[in-house]
Amino acid sequence: MIKLLSTLTGALMLTIAFGVATPASAETTTISTPAVQIADGHLKSEMKKKARKFPKNVAARKKAFKAMSKGMKGIKKARKTKNKKLLVASANRIAKASAYLHKNVDKLFSKQTAKVKGTRAKPAIWKKWRKFKAGFTTLRKASDGLVKASMSGKGVGKAFKAVGKSCGSCHKPFRFKKKKKKKM
Ligand code: HEC
Repeated sequence: MIKLLSTLTGALMLTIAFGVATPASAETTTISTPAVQIADGHLKSEMKKKARKFPKNVAARKKAFKAMSKGMKGIKKARKTKNKKLLVASANRIAKASAYLHKNVDKLFSKQTAKVKGTRAKPAIWKKWRKFKAGFTTLRKASDGLVKASMSGKGVGKAFKAVGKSCGSCHKPFRFKKKKKKKM
């Protein structure tokens, strides 16, 4: 009897250990026997569900930043080639992305996103939250100014400079430099 019990406990310990060692499978393997494991798996999947949206937020903010970077390049090219259509489209691209960032900053930069792998957001963001947020207000105003300038064709250089300045003045205190390529 005792031997049987110890074998059973041994098996149970094994399954638990296995469950812990492979968190990726915890969500899908719900039918395994011991109640302990089911409860454990449930808790894990809840935690995972919560954790899942943070990388998504990081991806969403990066996408918006990339769009702005594309817009900036477009402005440069448009000014060189005197392409008004490209100028207006690029300014609008920047304005759209900056409005999105400005509006959703609380969600896109929630505290929990600080530890998401691959982010270059500095912890200073959450220490100087108001200053950080204000950066998006400045950016939004500047990019609206750029849209107006691009349409009228007046003061484009100045408006473009103002936008560029707002990008840079946020990146310096709040964004880590790009890491050199490192194999994991
Ligand atoms: C108020 C702050 C702020 C402003 C304004 C701002 N950025 Fe950023 N930017 C950040 C932060 C923080 C990150 C890092 C995001 C991350 O890695 O999670 C970032 C990342 C980026 C990236 C890298 C995205 C990627 O794929 O990793 C680009 C490109 C970029 N910004 C361009 C711009 C441009 C262009 C502007 C101006 C038109 C701008 N940013 C304005 C804070 C800002």
